[in-house]
Amino acid sequence: MKKILDLITEEMQAAFEAAGYAKELGRVTLSNRPDLCEYQCNGAMAGAKQYHKAPIMIANEVAAHCADSRVFSQVTSVAPGFLNCIVRPEFVADYVRQMKESDKFGLEMPEKSEKIIIDYGGPNVAKPLHVGHLRSAVIGESVKRIARFCGNEVIGDIHLGDWGLQMGLVITELQERQPDLVYFDPDYAGEYPKEAPFTVSELEEIYPTASGKSKEDPTYKEKAMQATFKLQSGVPGYRALWQHIINVSVADLKKNYERLHVDFDLWNGESSVHDEIPQMVQEMKDGGYAHESEGALVVDVKEETDTKEIPPCMILKSDGASLYNTTDLATIRMRMREEKPDRIIYVVDKRQELYFTQVFRCARKTGLVNEDTRLQFLGFGTMNGKDGKPFKTRQGGVMRLESLLNEIEEEMYAKICESGSMEGDLARETAEQVALSAVKYGDLSNQASKDYIFDIERFTSFEGDTGPYLLYTIVRMKSILNKYKEQGGNPDSVTLSAPVSQSEKELMMELAKFNAMMQAANEETAPHKVCAYLYDLANALNHFYHETKILTEQDAEKQASWIALLVITRDVMETCIDLLGFSAPERM
Ligand code: ARG
Repeated sequence: MKKILDLITEEMQAAFEAAGYAKELGRVTLSNRPDLCEYQCNGAMAGAKQYHKAPIMIANEVAAHCADSRVFSQVTSVAPGFLNCIVRPEFVADYVRQMKESDKFGLEMPEKSEKIIIDYGGPNVAKPLHVGHLRSAVIGESVKRIARFCGNEVIGDIHLGDWGLQMGLVITELQERQPDLVYFDPDYAGEYPKEAPFTVSELEEIYPTASGKSKEDPTYKEKAMQATFKLQSGVPGYRALWQHIINVSVADLKKNYERLHVDFDLWNGESSVHDEIPQMVQEMKDGGYAHESEGALVVDVKEETDTKEIPPCMILKSDGASLYNTTDLATIRMRMREEKPDRIIYVVDKRQELYFTQVFRCARKTGLVNEDTRLQFLGFGTMNGKDGKPFKTRQGGVMRLESLLNEIEEEMYAKICESGSMEGDLARETAEQVALSAVKYGDLSNQASKDYIFDIERFTSFEGDTGPYLLYTIVRMKSILNKYKEQGGNPDSVTLSAPVSQSEKELMMELAKFNAMMQAANEETAPHKVCAYLYDLANALNHFYHETKILTEQDAEKQASWIALLVITRDVMETCIDLLGFSAPERM
């Protein structure tokens, strides 16, 4: 479907033409004086110079040509030459009716769909998830769902951190504790045990211990680096132990992501490209791109137009070990070979921006990607506490994602039980659902690149610009629709008529912005646009609800039309929250 603003503009352009003026002048925008009109056009002002005429004269003539428009019910020319427009109630209703009947509410699909890989989540194996990983998961999941909804083929890849020093640290600490494990016996030739020699909670304790020790004790750190090297060079016992770490850790990660309603198509990691690195390095050398610098192998990536220093991209350290860069580059190489994406989006902390500039330039320069492959960095800001500093536990430690979710669920559970609307398992389940909306909406309603303050109290409130407020609004509609059914009505077979009140018309006009908003959210990879739309829509719905006695209305046709309006509003809102990665309960 065409965007409603385009339809309105076309009508205005026709009036300009009919009055003898260039149609380009007829661009209509949303009114910035909603107290006076719904839309406005400033074309007469722009035309004054071109036609050597007073703008008000042009405006008067154009307004006269709008007199029996099927779009405008009123177009007024006001000094010095503005055109203030009000659209016909039937026109808006007609548009919303078409939305209701169309697939995806009339959102147009692209002529050529893109194949996109989204690299998000990025947790590190053996380390517990912390709130820093929350943003990547929440934003990435939403960007993925929006891009898919808008007609693209999208693959989500978690890109596990599973190949670095943290693996060596865990292995070293295990060796300290259980030196007799077969994994450390170089002469062992049998099969390795199926069971991991540790549990997930042990694993979570082992990593911080090892990391702490390595900071204090250089020999310990040296051991860990050795272990990392042995692992990467394929020592069987180390590989077997590493596989246990991955298995135990990934099982736990899956549980956590499931709880967040985040799911990945690919569970690749840094390790997945290990075997590809030597050949990539060789190609970079053969192509004349990589050269030695202070023993390390680097690719220069600075450009003449740079205003700040962009250091070379390091491919191999002087001891021949690969780095974070190397695995990211090799991952691009693998993705181009296996998936041939048109675009790769990285949803990563914005503090890694310079790093990605280096990686992208290197990939382009060395021909890992095609000329028209887009590499996009979607950097997000820090999640801060109320004190404006990075979010911490009450004791000042790093907040684990699990604890954070638990805390919010508890808060929600208490609220729901207090309201007395439900109890027991149902209250639990509902609390989980509402808590997720609080966390995700609290994050997504901000522009991703900005830092934001994680304010549990505000996020869990049922009023204001929050997830729970949206769910509350949806539940309100569901409850009216259920009651309508109980009264013998059928919400699926009602027709929308022209609005009879201003609040009803305004609700329809908010709905009608859907396709323009969705397209912008997709093009700008901006879930916050979906949030802003939802909030406006919820406000319009509640305004309409407070002014309209829907269930006691005697005029059946009028009532049916209102029910139809609730049905589409509910459907649009539920579609949008699904794109943000959460859902609404039946009651709350
Ligand atoms: N594991 C990394 C971290 O915790 C994030 C990975 C981001 N993605 C990437 N392709 N480098 O910081």
